[in-house]
Amino acid sequence: MYLFKEIARLQEALEQEKTAGRRIGFVPTMGALHEGHLSLIRAAKAATDVVVCSIFVNPTQFNDPKDFEKYPVTIKEDILKLTGGGTNILFLPSVAEMYPEGVNGRQPHYDFGYLETVLEGAHRPNHFQGVGIIVHKLLQAVQPDDLFMGQKDFQQCMIIKRLLEITQIPSKLHICPTLREKDGLAMSSRNMRLDPAARQIATRISQALGYVKENIRSLPFNIIKENASKQLQDAGYQVDYIEIADASDLQLLKEPVDRNMVVLAAAKLGEVRLIDNMIIASPGHAGS
Ligand code: PAF
Repeated sequence: MYLFKEIARLQEALEQEKTAGRRIGFVPTMGALHEGHLSLIRAAKAATDVVVCSIFVNPTQFNDPKDFEKYPVTIKEDILKLTGGGTNILFLPSVAEMYPEGVNGRQPHYDFGYLETVLEGAHRPNHFQGVGIIVHKLLQAVQPDDLFMGQKDFQQCMIIKRLLEITQIPSKLHICPTLREKDGLAMSSRNMRLDPAARQIATRISQALGYVKENIRSLPFNIIKENASKQLQDAGYQVDYIEIADASDLQLLKEPVDRNMVVLAAAKLGEVRLIDNMIIASPGHAGS
């Protein structure tokens, strides 16, 4: 695996691959890699010839400075995992490389419309602008044919889809299924921050989503959401939201529709904020 810290060097190397007609797959990450990330690398390996992974903890997407400071950094382990997973290139830029204008410098503003006003957008002001800024910069650096992201960040995937439309970047977005621990907890870098007691109850978030999914056609939505929220509160969570939305546009729903729906939740266990979602496939539609 080659490691580049500068955009210019990365681009020189990629230019040779592109000239040789090789397809470039890209997996952007913030490091602290787990099986979920490695499944994205595997998907990229299966669909492309050269797999580029970036590790960059992006300061502009953290609305909570404490969350940024405490974001796990495990670079040595990450390098071993990426090498083992067959990654061809690791891009590991510094903050100065990605933000030569400074993190508080002038940045583009993206019109993500409604998508930025709900759920994560409502609870994490400016988060998606920060995600848009860095993913745009990374895409300009790598210029991949294919981009691989996890369904675990469902709303982020929709934002990136919109970003690709706005910027007219022709990379193809692949949304890969969420990987879960044996007890159902969605894999996430933030899970590393859970102490053993919190880790035990962390599984309740996927159980609450499962409860919503099971009862979606038998109980009114307000009752299901109230019950699921209470299940989490009783377990010790501080709930930001549990919502049921149309999976195609994230419009919040009050009753079932004959299309794929998605149930999404965000809740805090102490200082650690967890998010998760499950697609509820309409009969006749694909989903997970
Ligand atoms: O999902 C993440 O890890 C980050 O939001 C991303 C897409 C790498 C941008 O910093």
